[in-house]
Amino acid sequence: MTSPSRGCTIWFTGLSGAGKSTITEQLVPLLKSRGCKVEVLDGDVVRTNLSKGLGFSKEDRDINIRRIGFVCHLLSRNGVIAIAAAISPYKNLRDENRALIKDFVEVYVKVSLETCIQRDVKGLYKKALAGEIKEFTGVSDPYEAPDHPEVICETEKETPQESALKIVHKLEELGYVARRTDDGVHPKSDAKFSFNEAARV
Ligand code: ADX
Repeated sequence: MTSPSRGCTIWFTGLSGAGKSTITEQLVPLLKSRGCKVEVLDGDVVRTNLSKGLGFSKEDRDINIRRIGFVCHLLSRNGVIAIAAAISPYKNLRDENRALIKDFVEVYVKVSLETCIQRDVKGLYKKALAGEIKEFTGVSDPYEAPDHPEVICETEKETPQESALKIVHKLEELGYVARRTDDGVHPKSDAKFSFNEAARV
């Protein structure tokens, strides 16, 4: 039986609160429903185990991103679609992982800092703006947006489901996931639009 997918890494990048984890939650069932093997390396989760003890200096962030990249490399070359969802604010580290992994699909979750501050889901922006958290990305630490990401998800303009479908469409286009002619929406999803409609977004 031919595999429905080829290993690769979907590398999300974007500010804290941009929507990386939320889009991932929508993306995973879409990929699994297509028979893909999927693993997620979420920034917040990785920092409780693999990168436990690391802080947010450039040095520590670089170590964190290299570790995530290393694991994604192992997974992707064994046919898994590895999803990395960390801020990964530095271009050079993302490019380093791109060079290592090769099958690398960069997804820029684009959102304004103002929107992140407004959303402030974890209450961290308030603290960062008050100076209670140092080196906070976007507030007191740099964020370098990618120049040529494979996908841009604009979470102020599209729903997480639309963003996830956009990524699936790109994976099909790049040959990582087999094309589907039906609507492509996960059976358990309550999405109101078809895959073909979403592909035109
Ligand atoms: S990364 O820069 O190394 O890629 P990562 O994605 O692992 O960051 O972790 C980011 C998460 O840690 C944020 O979503 C937020 O919940 C939390 N956090 C705590 N302190 C900071 C900080 N100084 N800068 C950014 N995020 C922080």
